[in-house]
Amino acid sequence: MSVLDLGIDLGTANIIISAGRGVAILNEPTVIAFDKNTERVVAFGREAYNMIGRAPEHIAVIKPLKDGVITNNDMAQELIRLCILKVIGKRLINPRIVMCVPSNITAVERKAVVESAVSAGARTVYLIEEPVAALLGAGEDIMKPFGRMVVDIGGGTSDIAVTSLGGIVAANSVKKAGNAFNASIQRYFAENYKMLIGERTAEDAKISTANLFWPSNEKTGVISGRSLITGMPAKLEISEYDICTAITEDIDAIVAAIRTVFEKTPPELVGDIFDHGIVITGGGALLRGLDMYITHEFGVKCYVANDPLGCVARGTHLAFKVRDKLRNGFEKVSVSKI
Ligand SMILES: Nc1ncnc2c1ncn2[C@@H]1O[C@H](COP(=O)(O)OP(=O)(O)OP(=O)(O)O)[C@@H](O)[C@H]1O
Ligand SMILES: [Mg+2]
Repeated sequence: MSVLDLGIDLGTANIIISAGRGVAILNEPTVIAFDKNTERVVAFGREAYNMIGRAPEHIAVIKPLKDGVITNNDMAQELIRLCILKVIGKRLINPRIVMCVPSNITAVERKAVVESAVSAGARTVYLIEEPVAALLGAGEDIMKPFGRMVVDIGGGTSDIAVTSLGGIVAANSVKKAGNAFNASIQRYFAENYKMLIGERTAEDAKISTANLFWPSNEKTGVISGRSLITGMPAKLEISEYDICTAITEDIDAIVAAIRTVFEKTPPELVGDIFDHGIVITGGGALLRGLDMYITHEFGVKCYVANDPLGCVARGTHLAFKVRDKLRNGFEKVSVSKI
């Protein structure tokens, strides 16, 4: 029997599977499309994502996770199963799997996630908490008796944690992340410019025009939408300042959550973080100027991990190597099927 170890990051926005040395071998949006007439899944991942807002009535395009919580258990399970099967292909392999699940999921959802991996042929399933995986994927040595802090800003949640000796010492999670930023941007243009924009337009504006540290007033981008005054299609020039203003409250909620984690962290470990810095991971870490913003707020150097979107997936895979040493945040939840 060949051995295959897979790491799976089940995120609100993306599901990533890594193998080998933590290389991503599948990276798909967490979306699945279901035909209500035939009761069959017709697409998943990128193909289903492209159907959003464009599917006929009988096809439900479902995002089974919202704000770091599984909102559709059956579809989440099916999506995980399909992704694993896509990776395994026709090979006769029962992989060992480390899965990173959102921090807020319940025991029932946990069980469902594990069952879906087992139904796709997993031999053993381990669960790992997102911040532990994020730190491992960011290349941090979390086994030493030093405090390390990570802020993982995903699509649904921002998870903050301090680890030492392979375990989580203090943590917090807020539902302010990529999706909330998009909603705030949509609200900002509706309220201030009487312009209705779609979620994908907000996402594009966030990626192209965000700058949280010293945003410029110069109009550097253009967005399209519908005027709330005339009801007609309209275009609007936007600046870094617009996007920064739109999401500042969300960013400040994350800053407040980081503050509470500092307050719960023993002073020796706070000292370590002061010396070493705060690492940010997840897609939200790519927001321009966020590292500087956090550095400025706490007077502690904040830096963006290498390939922040892939950190958690990489970390899930790397966790195999250190699984005996990890404390909380890594548990074996299913027994071998063979
Ligand atoms: N360059 C960028 N600038 C700002 N945000 C970005 C950028 N690239 C991606 N994002 C955002 O990152 C988010 C996805 O990040 P990630 O894949 O880490 O989330 P996730 O793991 O699926 O979600 P969660 O961890 O909350 O369950 C999306 O909201 C996306 O808009
Ligand atoms: Mg994530």
